[in-house]
Amino acid sequence: MPHLLITGGAGFIGSHVVRLFVQRYPNYTIINLDALTYAGNLENLRDIENAPNYVFEKGDITDAAFLDSLFAKYPFEGVIHLAAESHVDRSITNPLAFVETNVMGTVNLLHAARKSWGNQLEGKRFYHVSTDEVYGSLGEEGFFTEETPYDPRSPYSASKASSDHFVRAWFHTYHLPVVLSNCSNNYGPYHFPEKLIPLMISNIKEGKSLPVYGDGKYTRDWLWVKDHAEAIDTIFHKGRIGETYNIGGNNEWKNIDLVEKICDIMDELLGKPQGTSRTLITFVKDRPGHDRRYAIDASKLRDELGWEPTVKSEEGFRATAQWYLDNESWLEQVRSGAYQQYYAAQYGQ
Ligand code: NAD
Ligand code: DAU
Repeated sequence: MPHLLITGGAGFIGSHVVRLFVQRYPNYTIINLDALTYAGNLENLRDIENAPNYVFEKGDITDAAFLDSLFAKYPFEGVIHLAAESHVDRSITNPLAFVETNVMGTVNLLHAARKSWGNQLEGKRFYHVSTDEVYGSLGEEGFFTEETPYDPRSPYSASKASSDHFVRAWFHTYHLPVVLSNCSNNYGPYHFPEKLIPLMISNIKEGKSLPVYGDGKYTRDWLWVKDHAEAIDTIFHKGRIGETYNIGGNNEWKNIDLVEKICDIMDELLGKPQGTSRTLITFVKDRPGHDRRYAIDASKLRDELGWEPTVKSEEGFRATAQWYLDNESWLEQVRSGAYQQYYAAQYGQ
């Protein structure tokens, strides 16, 4: 029975990856390692927590001794590493946490895997999940490819870029069998409401203002989170060792257009006259160092491994809005306590 370590499995993307692997591969034992920071939530996995091939381990990737004990406890054949501090705005106010978890945590994990696996590398795989933000910012034209030079500009993207470099260093220097992917913005169920789409949905529900940074013309490429989980499955099983694959939704939206779209969907779902929620849109102070545009060329992944996004934006945005309306108690739980202080500090209300 292959043992697979998934880090950050109680977070947004990680929970979709854990669920997919637990359900699709009953012959694997899935060990979910998560520190349960503010972004980690075992509620995200309630439906599969009793599955016979699923184990949860609470622990911190910044704790090297703990990682050694985990690799001694389980005969891991693979690692899918998602644990990270993931919110750009938080990286601006608290950059050191990003260096500790994203850089040092990743190095600890590489080090533990190498020590445990030694020269027995046949069949082993270390998959590092990263972001398109490492490539910097695009103008109106062009796409990020796997050859685009790194140009990170926020503490978050710099920490992820650094972690990518360490993963490649472990491949070249120690022949650790690694594979990497760099993905665009995800959306869907269980997305923590500090990020744009769930923040807008929850504020519309409460009639609160919708803070759009700067001129609102910043552009992101949005991908349905379950399509990302499928891409991770494909790359984990079929990706070539030492390679990097870009993952994207082929679905670019300027923030203001996206927020207006969410407003219109919410008006429809809440039975309000069209245009009601748009009146809540408020342009606020810009994010420092705000990257203008991200857009992914995912043709390598499509041509080599046959993955393509399946969910169209209209369908995905509607399903997301409906999910938040149907899961009010989840939203209440994650927005309690420390989240209130974060919201007040970030948005001054
Ligand atoms: P998230 O913030 O929702 O979840 C992160 C998870 O990691 C949480 O469960 C948290 O408890 C855990 N974690 C944080 N620090 C930890 C530590 N020190 N030790 C153990 N666990 C720890 O993040 P997400 O949006 O699901 O992103 C997951 C990964 O995917 C990250 O590596 C991120 O950089 C990458 N990524 C995210 C997106 C996106 O749009 N969200 C896009 C591309 C890549
Ligand atoms: O591109 C992949 C990245 O996407 C991931 O690596 C990150 O982990 C993930 O958080 C996400 O980063 P972004 O900064 O793009 O996502 P966020 O949801 O924070 O913001 C999306 C856009 O919306 C961005 O241009 C900033 C803007 N924004 C965001 C918030 C929270 C606003 O205008 N107002 C807001 O209140």
